Amino acid sequence: MHTIKDSHLAGVIAVDIEVIPEKKEEILREFPAPVFPQQEVAFNINEKKPGDYAEKITVLLNSFSIEATSNGGKWLKIELSNNNGKFGAKMWDRNGSVQRTAELLETYSIFQVSGKIEQFPKETGPKSIIIEGIKEYTGNANAFELLPATEKSIEDLTIELVTYVEEIQEPYKTVALKGLKTYWTEFSTKAAARGHHHAYLSGLLKHTLGLIRIIRFIRDQKANPIDAMNTLIDVAYKQSRDESLYNVNAEVPVRERDMVWNGTVEHLRTVFNEVVRRKNEEINFDLLVLAALFHDMGKMLEYFNAGESTVEKYKWLYPNADFSTYNPKPSGIIMDPIGGGTGHIIFSTMLLQQILVKENIVLKIEDIGKLNHCIAAHHGKLEWGSAAWMEKPEAFIIHFVDLLDARWEKADPIN
Ligand SMILES: [Fe+2]
Ligand SMILES: [Fe+2]
Repeated sequence: MHTIKDSHLAGVIAVDIEVIPEKKEEILREFPAPVFPQQEVAFNINEKKPGDYAEKITVLLNSFSIEATSNGGKWLKIELSNNNGKFGAKMWDRNGSVQRTAELLETYSIFQVSGKIEQFPKETGPKSIIIEGIKEYTGNANAFELLPATEKSIEDLTIELVTYVEEIQEPYKTVALKGLKTYWTEFSTKAAARGHHHAYLSGLLKHTLGLIRIIRFIRDQKANPIDAMNTLIDVAYKQSRDESLYNVNAEVPVRERDMVWNGTVEHLRTVFNEVVRRKNEEINFDLLVLAALFHDMGKMLEYFNAGESTVEKYKWLYPNADFSTYNPKPSGIIMDPIGGGTGHIIFSTMLLQQILVKENIVLKIEDIGKLNHCIAAHHGKLEWGSAAWMEKPEAFIIHFVDLLDARWEKADPIN
């Protein structure tokens, strides 16, 4: 027997799965785990003090811009990343160094950088590198090697996800399995964010599984599934209380607007009340699992990272497009140069539609409407990026579990 033991949300959700070896093999044959290169422990800016020197560290370039100083000079504002995450860098102009370096940054994507660590504002601000030397990296770096990745077993995440997908009813199950199969290579490696939560390789897989875990938890409270949401609000409340308490003794208090749980409990309670108002409407939990599976899939097109197959993901939706001039440089986790301006919600609905058409799957039009509604409204508010207001109980629930999983991960990003 292959056993998977894990837990989510401070142990409120316990994972205990057993699969026979044949089943494990079958799942991993269908959905092979991506192999990331062995990562060496790289430079970690959080372990450095202001004034420390970073010597020839290998980094990916995320983005850069030429900025103006108050006295009319120029400086370079740069965002870099390595497998410990992203961090900023600056370069002041010395005899045209800004212009020369900008040309270098335009041409290459992996660099060796040396410079001094600075923290601004002092003690509370982010740390960055004041670059004194930069040149293109000429070794054989595998771009994946320079990105952070989840430390969880991707095989176990896969087996758990497929196990949950296989327990839902038809026709939702077929849509889910065909979707996973079609998009697997990208889906299993992609980060779920650029800097907020799950900003590492396989973050999308982990976040999606996180949602489905919470949906199942709610579903399985036979006596009153809606009340299960109260148990989850208690988890958020405790986290938020601990976060506020931290400031009582902290030398450098966290600003209220930087607190992860700030306002979350109140918002979750509002969403809960909306579900209660609709308590006479039946909640389709199988449809919810399918919606969760697809809700952030569009991030495969919204984000771009080093090492990915750049063209394939566009061919799913735009097989006739002309790719002859499309050749993005490998980088850390950034907004995709093409998909970034559209957002994942639109792409997620399109990726779902593709599966229904290509696989010729018959779904009730009401179900299609509800799936699109769940995806379109999952950010909760238009000002938080939603494309629609929440109306159906499923849409309120998917927003609830999405927010909870994202906040949890942001506060405690133990991979
Ligand atoms: Fe989202
Ligand atoms: Fe999400």
